[in-house]
Amino acid sequence: MNVALTGITGYAGMQLYNLLKNHPQVDQINVYQHDLKEAIDLAQLNPKLGTTDQEAYPYNAQAVMNHNQVIFFATPAGVTAELASPYLAANFPVIDLSGDFRLPDPKDYETWYHKTPAQAEELEQAYYGLADLEHNPGKTYIANPGCYATATLLGLAPAVQDGLIEPDSIIVDAKSGLSGAGKSLTPSSHFVQANENLQVYKANEHKHIPEILNTLQGWNNEVPYLQFMTTLVPMDKGILASIYAKVKPGYDEKDLLQHYQDTYADSPFVTVFNEGLPDVKSVVNTNDCKIGLAYNPVTNTVLIVSVIDNMLKGAAGQAVQNFNQLFDFDITDGLHFAPTLY
Ligand SMILES: NC(=O)c1ccc[n+]([C@@H]2O[C@H](COP(=O)([O-])OP(=O)(O)OC[C@H]3O[C@@H](n4cnc5c(N)ncnc54)[C@H](OP(=O)(O)O)[C@@H]3O)[C@@H](O)[C@H]2O)c1
Repeated sequence: MNVALTGITGYAGMQLYNLLKNHPQVDQINVYQHDLKEAIDLAQLNPKLGTTDQEAYPYNAQAVMNHNQVIFFATPAGVTAELASPYLAANFPVIDLSGDFRLPDPKDYETWYHKTPAQAEELEQAYYGLADLEHNPGKTYIANPGCYATATLLGLAPAVQDGLIEPDSIIVDAKSGLSGAGKSLTPSSHFVQANENLQVYKANEHKHIPEILNTLQGWNNEVPYLQFMTTLVPMDKGILASIYAKVKPGYDEKDLLQHYQDTYADSPFVTVFNEGLPDVKSVVNTNDCKIGLAYNPVTNTVLIVSVIDNMLKGAAGQAVQNFNQLFDFDITDGLHFAPTLY
């Protein structure tokens, strides 16, 4: 199969290129870049690729559809809201790593992204692809979930779906490495500011809040809101979400663990610890999510720790999972890695 990719000069696009390069069902990756006037050597576009015999092409939707069976967009918010129409009109498969099609209500997008949304009828055609838990009803436009949203939702799913926690008691304290913000330098990502530092950012304003809330409410309409905080930590990659909630009367630690293990019993990528809590290094460079629970009977509060690699499970890895689902490939195709165990 031929696949198109745009955004290869960015972090997620580069990661995606590497995954697709080793995917057993992918014959060729055609790279399209927004600012090219003519085709150039791919290695010239992104020297990290070293020498290749491939070219990168100027972005053109018709050329993409003529020469490929699917396109991956690893582009910033605002891009696919403008570029998606021809693909939607032709029912051409798209896997979109940006947030542009994650929120069905255009007003929500305006509020949280401060950008012009896609048309409401286009947004309706998209499917929010939380690949470890949901099954694509046959839609060809996949909105790949956000990285924090993935860690949080996988961590909360059993508790919320099975009604084990008080629905108005959810507090998420999530921490991410710097690659989560992409390659652009900002005041908070300068080495001197980021190194040996912890920075809370976007308090109550993070763009992933509405997609998390929509999904939680889809699972359990008693969830009214959640408290969600994000912290930047001086690591390259990785997210650790510490999730707190009050446990409903009648459930204890053993019950919680049983529900978590049942939910993910058949999941090749989500592991629930019998005891102990996971750390970030155990998932970096993998498509895995690891989850651990700690119940405090004194406060009747459960701590759920969910860890992922933001570039893999939180972006490119989940995009490949969605690609596998869309084309009925084995769900693990292209996603076998060993974690960095040191
Ligand atoms: N980083 C993560 O952990 C992560 C996780 C989940 C989802 N995502 C999402 O994935 C997308 C890419 O993220 P990233 O971290 O890889 O960002 P990035 O490092 O900033 O890369 C963005 C890419 O998009 C290209 N681009 C910029 N403006 C464009 C335009 N107007 N039209 C077309 N392409 C354009 C850039 O090309 P130039 O080189 O020309 O600028 C670059 O190739 C974002 O929507 C992000 O929210 C990222």
